[in-house]
Amino acid sequence: MKIFIDTAKLYEIKEALKWGIVDGVTTNPSLIKVAVEAIKKTGKKIDMEEYIKEICYLVGKNGSVSLEVLSLKSEKIMEEAQILFKKFNPIANNVAIKIPIDTFVNGNKIGHYEGLKAISMLSGMNIPINVTLIMTPEQALLAAKAGARYVSPFMARVDNRVREQLDINYMPEDYYDSELEKEIASFKFKKYLENNHNKSIANLYEDKNIKDIVSSNSDTGVYGGLDLVEQIVKIFDNYNFRTEVLAASVRNKTQFREVAKVGADVITIPFFLFEEILQHPRTEIGLRTFCENIVEEYRELLK
Ligand code: G3P
Repeated sequence: MKIFIDTAKLYEIKEALKWGIVDGVTTNPSLIKVAVEAIKKTGKKIDMEEYIKEICYLVGKNGSVSLEVLSLKSEKIMEEAQILFKKFNPIANNVAIKIPIDTFVNGNKIGHYEGLKAISMLSGMNIPINVTLIMTPEQALLAAKAGARYVSPFMARVDNRVREQLDINYMPEDYYDSELEKEIASFKFKKYLENNHNKSIANLYEDKNIKDIVSSNSDTGVYGGLDLVEQIVKIFDNYNFRTEVLAASVRNKTQFREVAKVGADVITIPFFLFEEILQHPRTEIGLRTFCENIVEEYRELLK
């Protein structure tokens, strides 16, 4: 599994690249905003072009840097994609252009097809496209058919949608265990059937309570962010799509592990998560004991 860092902060990118485990960088307008605001706070000005060129240079030719377009209409998306690609790809031949799967905003009636049109035209021009804001397996399937290099399913945002539907209290960084939720729903379903065994199948099928039990813990059949990634991996496997599944909107280390288990090609994670992944109380205690047990003879050897 390739690991990308989900940030536009140069100092985070520089630091993470030193560890030798980071294969790329993903950005979006919100991450750029955070990075720019942090720089402005220090009183410094930012030369955006030089700043992004440096990111591309640091990531190098074996990595990938995703840069997102801003417009919602296909002609403008294509123009912006080509501007970004022409300006930054020559630095290290590593740029992928991020395009939203759907650009339907504020009742923009034709927005549904604008992303797809641009994705297929640009892919046809051999510009690698990272299709962003993927919330369903079928969106991912269309993006792959359009020739995308990556699809980015937004895990935590799908988790949050299901949690909100269920009225679950959560912190943004909490892991959402959709398997546990499924078990609970199945238990409730069996109990309900036990208590209503006299009803006909047709009556039960139309029963609103049953419908609620079986549908409340999914977003039209997607049980959470991890389930979304897993379904996309399966579909791409069925049809040998070369599009890579890039798990995004990752907020905790359990998601990181689970994504690796379902076989996503890439995961992009925020900087703070690396520390969380490495940290374990028993690793810390073990190290403390090793430090306490150092004998002078051994220390001498290493001087
Ligand atoms: O790469 C997409 C990512 O930045 C979105 O993450 O945490 O804002 O849902 P988040």
